Amino acid sequence: MKNIFASLFLLFLISCTNTEKNANTFPAEVKELLDNMSVEEKAGQLTILNLTVLVKTDSVTGKIVLDSAKLKDFMVNHMVGNILNTHSVALSDSNWRSIIVTLQKYAQQTPNKIPVLYGIDAIHGATYTSNSVLFPHNMALGASRNPELARLAAKATAADVRASGIRWNYAPVLDVARQPLWARFGESYGEDPFLVGEMGKAAVKGYEEDGLNKTTGVASCMKHYLAYSAPTTGKDRSPSLIPEITLREYYLPPFEACVKAGSSSIMINSSEINGVPVHGSSYLLKDVLRGELGFEGLVVSDWMDVMRLHDRHHVAKDYREATKMAINAGIDMSMVPYDTRFTDQVIDLVKAGEISMERLDEACGRVLTLKYKLGLFSDGGLPEETAIKNFNPEKNKELAITAARECLTLLKNKNDVLPLKKGCKILLAGKGAENISMMNGCWSYCWQGNDNNLYPNYYTSLSQELKKIAGENSVILEKGNQIKSTSEDVIVLCLGEDAYAETPGSIRELDLDEDQQQLAMSAYATGKPVILVLMEGRPRIVRKIEPEASGILMTYWSGFGAPKAIAECLFGEMNPSGKLPFSYPKYSGYYLPYDYKYSDLDEELQIGVFTKTGYDVQWPFGFGLSYTHFTYSVIEADTVLFGDAMLNISVMVKNTGKVDGAEAVELYTRDHYASVAPSMRRLRAFNKVFLKKGESKKITFQLSAKDLSFVNTDMKRVTEDGKFDIIIADQVKEFIYYAK
Ligand code: BGC
Repeated sequence: MKNIFASLFLLFLISCTNTEKNANTFPAEVKELLDNMSVEEKAGQLTILNLTVLVKTDSVTGKIVLDSAKLKDFMVNHMVGNILNTHSVALSDSNWRSIIVTLQKYAQQTPNKIPVLYGIDAIHGATYTSNSVLFPHNMALGASRNPELARLAAKATAADVRASGIRWNYAPVLDVARQPLWARFGESYGEDPFLVGEMGKAAVKGYEEDGLNKTTGVASCMKHYLAYSAPTTGKDRSPSLIPEITLREYYLPPFEACVKAGSSSIMINSSEINGVPVHGSSYLLKDVLRGELGFEGLVVSDWMDVMRLHDRHHVAKDYREATKMAINAGIDMSMVPYDTRFTDQVIDLVKAGEISMERLDEACGRVLTLKYKLGLFSDGGLPEETAIKNFNPEKNKELAITAARECLTLLKNKNDVLPLKKGCKILLAGKGAENISMMNGCWSYCWQGNDNNLYPNYYTSLSQELKKIAGENSVILEKGNQIKSTSEDVIVLCLGEDAYAETPGSIRELDLDEDQQQLAMSAYATGKPVILVLMEGRPRIVRKIEPEASGILMTYWSGFGAPKAIAECLFGEMNPSGKLPFSYPKYSGYYLPYDYKYSDLDEELQIGVFTKTGYDVQWPFGFGLSYTHFTYSVIEADTVLFGDAMLNISVMVKNTGKVDGAEAVELYTRDHYASVAPSMRRLRAFNKVFLKKGESKKITFQLSAKDLSFVNTDMKRVTEDGKFDIIIADQVKEFIYYAK
């Protein structure tokens, strides 16, 4: 008992220190402002509303316009300090700038003239700015195994967003995708925490490296802390049951990595973990995020999630109690987003002493500090001339195409059916053949991303790109949902998912729908070779239609560059190098990530006879074919790793095939024995190299004890003495680790 009190006291001390530390790190300007602000003005800074509350439909033009009465009410009377999102779909960059100018004009009418902070979801390019170029979604980028692409895409996005007058972006998504039913699977970089962390760090760099007060930077927002990606039933925003050891082993590391990389803000998971909604968890928001990870930036709630502590999770008896719970647990800003009840409640709670003035100042100080860092106080938050000219440079299209090329993942190539010979005639079918939004997925010019009319006219479809290579008359489009017969040489069948975002994308089974499977069956019945092109945000089960397919290309949601890259790939104008960032399941009811445990392998299909056949997926994590072959030399590595030293590892990789190509060299380790059952392998490093045909390169890696660590039953990260394997492609090498 005494121990419990001692640790509680220690926790109290730690949390006090964190609070004071944060308050003391505010810039002098922010401290001074805080001294001059009323409780009402501070509460307004803790509030973010959606743009919809400020608009009306013009009775003459029928257009949606800003409404001066609403602006006055929300921005001046209630002193709401922050606005997000669009009122409907993407707007032009100049339209955005005039909105920002108007908002800042109203902000100038508040007592301290604090500029508005505008936030937007620009998660694979400037989603809500029409005419901008959209890049591959995170899952596709995960397949590229090329963090530099994530950095460049983020940098280009930052410039487009800033040119629109907006300085805060709700990205990157750092949720680790280990629940394939989840509708936001495609927004994640993959199922492995290290991969997600590496790609996420690169994105944070891309958004912020130029400096928040520079006209090419935006504040990033890591989301959705923590484990939003792991709903137990798979349904978006539904509860998860996750042991803390698992939370720390798989879901926390990407956030830890991106906090270290300096991300400015973080958005919270809407769901509950083990019965505790994260928006009300002072353990996760204070002890872990502030205390352990040392995060000093802004914590913003997700959509309506403060109120939902009451009306969805039922842990607060009313909205007032929910507000108190969330703010005291550590939420700094509430994405309300439709009214000012939250603002009024904060004022009331502070006046009643139920939220302390210190806590109000801490939360408000964080909002103001971000505004200060973004340069909003120096220019009143007005659009910057030097930012405008950076909007949508021609080079973004090239970057989007390069990125899409590196993402595409070739999953099957029976008898080298691919690349297709020039001159061959194609029957192109399936719902993705002409559907642009299936290649771009969610958050594409509108939230759901499913309106083809919103795409800029420079976007092309796959049929157009195939015709550019094969010739106008060599591509015949089959629009029906059955193929009777064909005289063409090959059938290219584009299957997958229509675009969807968040809860509307929830599904109850992973199987590809029956109609599309039937279409595939009818294609096989023609006797012609069939290439499946899978356009999907999450792995849909293809077990029944896979065996008869000659080729299969996974395209994920690869953005603007997808159709061109796919056409080039089918004709061998480029060589695919993507590797699956998740384990592609074979059965709807059996998803096992690649880092499964030794005992996952055991099966007893016949009583008393155990086989090691338990890992049965359609394609494993890291799988991806090339038009060339890479061979690996034996691994050279130190045989012993002591304490804090580094283990040096190298391997020669050779392109032994007939064409140039890129290979993502992946290093895994396997712990032979540990106090917590170890995984069969864990990804520890990767490095993508380009090799001309016949060329070899020596790839070197270094590992420290920390890279081998795991979370033990005391919730501590440890590396225990013992034997490990290094695994690179088909090569394995053993070494021993001694702490001392
Ligand atoms: C999503 C967030 C997003 C926010 C603002 C929420 O529904 O979960 O990812 O940033 O809306 O659009």
